[in-house]
Amino acid sequence: DTPRGAFPVTRMRRMRRDAFSRRLMRETLLTPDDFIYPVFVLEGRGQREAVPSMPGVERLSVDLLVEEARRIAALGIPVMALFPVTPPSAKSEDAREAFNPDGLAQRAVRALKDALPELGVVTDVALDPFTTHGQDGLIDASGYVLNDETVEVLTRQALSHAAAGADVVAPSDMMDGRIGAIRAALEEAGHIHTRILAYSAKYASSFYGPFRDAVGSAANLGGGNKYSYQMDPANSDEALHEVALDLREGADMVMIKPGLPYLDIVRRVKERFGAPTFVYQVSGEYAMLKAASQNGWLDERAVVLEALVSIKRAGADGILTYYAKDAAEWLSD
Ligand code: PBG
Repeated sequence: DTPRGAFPVTRMRRMRRDAFSRRLMRETLLTPDDFIYPVFVLEGRGQREAVPSMPGVERLSVDLLVEEARRIAALGIPVMALFPVTPPSAKSEDAREAFNPDGLAQRAVRALKDALPELGVVTDVALDPFTTHGQDGLIDASGYVLNDETVEVLTRQALSHAAAGADVVAPSDMMDGRIGAIRAALEEAGHIHTRILAYSAKYASSFYGPFRDAVGSAANLGGGNKYSYQMDPANSDEALHEVALDLREGADMVMIKPGLPYLDIVRRVKERFGAPTFVYQVSGEYAMLKAASQNGWLDERAVVLEALVSIKRAGADGILTYYAKDAAEWLSD
């Protein structure tokens, strides 16, 4: 306690006074090394489409994707994540397009690894872009997503990605046991270096809306929801249980999704397991920041960098973000 009339013993503001001491005591640094850049991939050549609910985000055909990848690599971003936009004619009840060796995702991986072997490529392992009902798995007559049958298809899908040259397969489906099944199949097929980034704590979030528009699964899903496999936003211990299982089953990295509303989960996961931990700053988070910025209500560059550094401060080793390219540019200014 400060006696009356005396000065505070500790003046917290001393270290904040000048840029040099603020820089010196800064704990968390954001760099382009922290980012995974997601891209929506289209069929065709020379195709580029805007995503209305995500201004600034475009779907790209494979040739333009390769051009974009050169810019991403030049900015120092280590890795890209691919999300194919499946034409309606290729969707089916059984999602067989998911493991087509010549499917869009598989062709995109081959093109990227041919052109830019050093740039890491992550593929999405889930069935929702390929099913006529928009669920992440196969369903029974009541619409329930079948676990073990789905895991078999996911395993074939992951193998087809690895065969195409994917560096990282990222199951985003939330079926039980899929990490173990995929790991075993990869080992058996000799893909011993393929990393698994497990979406371990993926919440049944309403922040995914714009993504479902972007990949064209929103209409398929209709009024359906994913509550029987994605996690309840009210739960936290359950996330630790999920992460423990995925690590035991052979995940190399774990993901928490969405980002900003779930930073308590990020902190708990990082403290408990000390494993490589990633956050998906999802489409709805992007849309919120973008909309407020476009209205002039927020300073885009400042709020985006603040959100990203906060995710890292909470314990993330890296962030999958639609803002990766902008942020890398801002950081290099
Ligand atoms: C589906 C998938 C989703 C996202 C990534 N993979 C949507 C969903 O679970 O319905 C959402 C990502 C985002 O909102 O940016 N496998």
